[in-house]
Amino acid sequence: HITPVILSGGSGTRLWPLSRSKLPKQFLKLFGDKSLFQSTVERVAPRYGFRPPLVISNTDHRFLVNEALAQAGVGAEGILLEPFGRNTAPAAALAALMVAENNPGALLLIMPSDHVILDMAGFHKAVETAASAAAQGYLCCFGMTPDAPETGYGYIAGGDPLDGATGAYVIESFREKPDVQTARRYLEDGKYSWNSGMFLFRADTLLQAMEEYQKPMLDALRAVMGALTNDLDFLRLDPDLFAAVPSDSIDYAIMEKTGRAAIVPAEFGWSDLGSFSSLWAVEDKDEHGNVTVGDVMMEDCRDCLVHGGDRLVTALGIQDLIIVATDDAILVSDKNRDQDVKRIVSRIKAAE
Ligand code: GDD
Ligand code: MG
Repeated sequence: HITPVILSGGSGTRLWPLSRSKLPKQFLKLFGDKSLFQSTVERVAPRYGFRPPLVISNTDHRFLVNEALAQAGVGAEGILLEPFGRNTAPAAALAALMVAENNPGALLLIMPSDHVILDMAGFHKAVETAASAAAQGYLCCFGMTPDAPETGYGYIAGGDPLDGATGAYVIESFREKPDVQTARRYLEDGKYSWNSGMFLFRADTLLQAMEEYQKPMLDALRAVMGALTNDLDFLRLDPDLFAAVPSDSIDYAIMEKTGRAAIVPAEFGWSDLGSFSSLWAVEDKDEHGNVTVGDVMMEDCRDCLVHGGDRLVTALGIQDLIIVATDDAILVSDKNRDQDVKRIVSRIKAAE
């Protein structure tokens, strides 16, 4: 039995000004009436054989979490509230420490809460394959076929097939967020996959790797675990103890370093809606390749994403641009620069 761990601490800054700190992208209803967070919960619901999920979220979003769980009809095993983000390595390790108390060999499926997966059956099949690799003590990733030199992803080179887990391969190299030249080289090489950002492992496998590569982080997290407080539906972390935990992503902190990693190459209609160009890629386009949302009028424009919201946005003769207008902010960006939207957000935060 697999325990899903749903991570919802990011603020989705590359989708600013749609995604805001009070309502980050995983809670936006970008497609129809379900948020990405709710779809994530439903994808790993107990009716598919999963154990109830652990949710790790920022404290500001606890009611959004509760509401989405209720709408999905899923009761959580626990909802852990972080006072601030420490990135994904501490969050994953907290989940491992929690379940390892009673069951060190428990399988954990780490799930970002802000992805689109179109082929649910394909996803469940890949999880099954990964589970047999994880049961053997591997930290298992899911490999997606890359189609552009994206710099926001991890790049994985798979090696030999894994004994006893058909469809899984030993990882030869894992490189998180390479620069664009390196990403181009990986793409041309042809043997690299994108890391999907989901991971499957036994709790004790992760804790051993933490012991080996991130001892100070693990020790700081043990102190945090010793001081969890129960508050109605939620488990709260002590802010002072959590502030002492180094911030790092599981990709840099563990996956780039470990020799016990495996990959399951898979196709399940995955998309990380990390940026406006990935949103543009999955949305329906008009005959000129434009995606428009809300009140928008365009003349001779190509391959743009224009989000008008409630106001009229008009555009003339532009190409490969992103325009997003909300009540209080407007973004105009080159479509190829959309990874850098977070730089604007940092400047706004610094100015506040
Ligand atoms: N609880 C918690 N706390 N969750 C967090 C935190 C945190 O401090 N930071 C991020 N998360 C959540 C985010 O909300 C998201 O759902 C998930 O963890 C991944 O974090 P991102 O910040 O979106 O990571 P990324 O997109 O830059 O990179 C990861 O995903 C890529 C694929 O989408 C990496 O795993 C890459 O290797 C991968 O290619
Ligand atoms: Mg992401």
